[in-house]
Amino acid sequence: MRIDKLLSNAGAGSRKEVKKLLKNGIVTVNDQVVKDPKTQIDPEKDVVMISGEVVDYKEYVYFLMNKPDGVISATEDFFEKTVLDLLDESDRVRSPFPVGRLDKDTEGLLLLTNDGGLAHHLLSPKKHVPKTYFAVVKGEVTEQDAEDFRKGVVLDDGYKTKPASLNIIKSGMMSDIELTITEGKFHQVKRMFAAVGKKVVYLKRISMGPLTLDENLKPGEYRELTEEEIETLRQYEAEDFL
Ligand code: URA
Repeated sequence: MRIDKLLSNAGAGSRKEVKKLLKNGIVTVNDQVVKDPKTQIDPEKDVVMISGEVVDYKEYVYFLMNKPDGVISATEDFFEKTVLDLLDESDRVRSPFPVGRLDKDTEGLLLLTNDGGLAHHLLSPKKHVPKTYFAVVKGEVTEQDAEDFRKGVVLDDGYKTKPASLNIIKSGMMSDIELTITEGKFHQVKRMFAAVGKKVVYLKRISMGPLTLDENLKPGEYRELTEEEIETLRQYEAEDFL
C-alpha cells in the first residue's frame, strides 16, 4: 500500500496534507525518512512514524452497532439519516459500510466494516449464515407457525423460505418470539409472518453468525469489535462454517 494512502487512512490528514507531512521530512519508515508519497509500505511489517510517534495503522475496522429505529442501513442518502451518520468522524476515515441491511424501523445488531472479504462471506446466500431476530408480533403465534416456518412458507412473491427456527417466548394478543433464518430476503421476517396472517410490530436483530448484540449498547450506540470477536469471525470465515 502507498504511504500516502496509509497515512490518510490512519487519519493523518487528506492526501494533500499527507503530501506536505512527507515533504517536510517528518515521516519515517523503519527509522528512514521517506518523502515520496508513492513509497510502498507493508502495513503488517513496516513501522511508520510521524515526528517520532508510531502511526497506529489498522487496515480493517469492525464496528458493532445497535441500529436504532428511523435510520437507514446505507452509506449515504440525500434525505434520510444513515447508519454512517452515527459514526464519529474519526471512525469514518477507513470507509466502513454496513454488512447487509436492516429495515429503517428494525433495530439491533449491525456490523460495519471495510473488510470486503468478510462482508462477502457473511452475506453470501451460499453460506447460510444464521441470523436471529427478536420480534413482537400482533396476534397469537402458535406451534403451527413454528412447524410452518420449519417446513418453509411461501412469501407474497411465490418464494418458499428455507427452514427457519421459531422460538415462542410469549404467546397472546401480542406475542414475543425469536426467529432464526439462514437467508436474507427483502423484509424476510415481516413477510414470513405475513404469510401466516400475522403482523410484526417490532423487530430487532440479536445475532448474526458468531456475533451477538451487546446489550450494553443503547440504540444508536456502537463499539469496536474486541480482538476475540474479530478472531472468532476470522475462524468462522476460515473454517467455512458459513
Ligand atoms: N427481516 C425484516 O423483515 N426486516 C429486517 O430488517 C430484517 C429481516
